Amino acid sequence: MLESDAAVREAWEGLATQLRGLAEGEPGWLPVLANASALLMDGLEDLNWAGFYLDDGRGLVLGPFQGKLACVRIALGRGVCGTAAQADEAQLVEDVHAFPGHIACDAASRSELVVPIHREGRVVGVLDMDSPSLARFGATDLAGARAFVAALEEVCDWAGLPTGA
Ligand code: SME
Repeated sequence: MLESDAAVREAWEGLATQLRGLAEGEPGWLPVLANASALLMDGLEDLNWAGFYLDDGRGLVLGPFQGKLACVRIALGRGVCGTAAQADEAQLVEDVHAFPGHIACDAASRSELVVPIHREGRVVGVLDMDSPSLARFGATDLAGARAFVAALEEVCDWAGLPTGA
């Protein structure tokens, strides 16, 4: 059964609140992103991967995540993550097989949602979520993920990011 929009919205609000709580004690980006990936994987249904890719000046490099082994590097402009980072636009992909250049880390993935993360107006990485179900993510997830990333941008201490910037 599909969850109602209200339930999805509530789930995302709860996740953003938990994120703010866990960043209070230790706001460093590494522990916050690590626990954020666990929050998402634990708190949302039907995901097979949730985590982060960070820009290190040579492209995107794998950050904290939950799920199966993943590609370590993704060039800007490549795949769903590289497209989101380069265009600075969230990507909601209902069917990854229909996305030109999609990078299949886990063959089980069928749909994907990627949201860019900013620091001082620059894209420093992306949040990436994969699902084994077609069209798992809808407009309410997109709005919820954007709010979750906005909370991350606000609460994290981003000193020492791999960009070196
Ligand atoms: N599918 C992504 C690659 C990362 S994995 O899904 C974890 C992409 O096309 O960018």
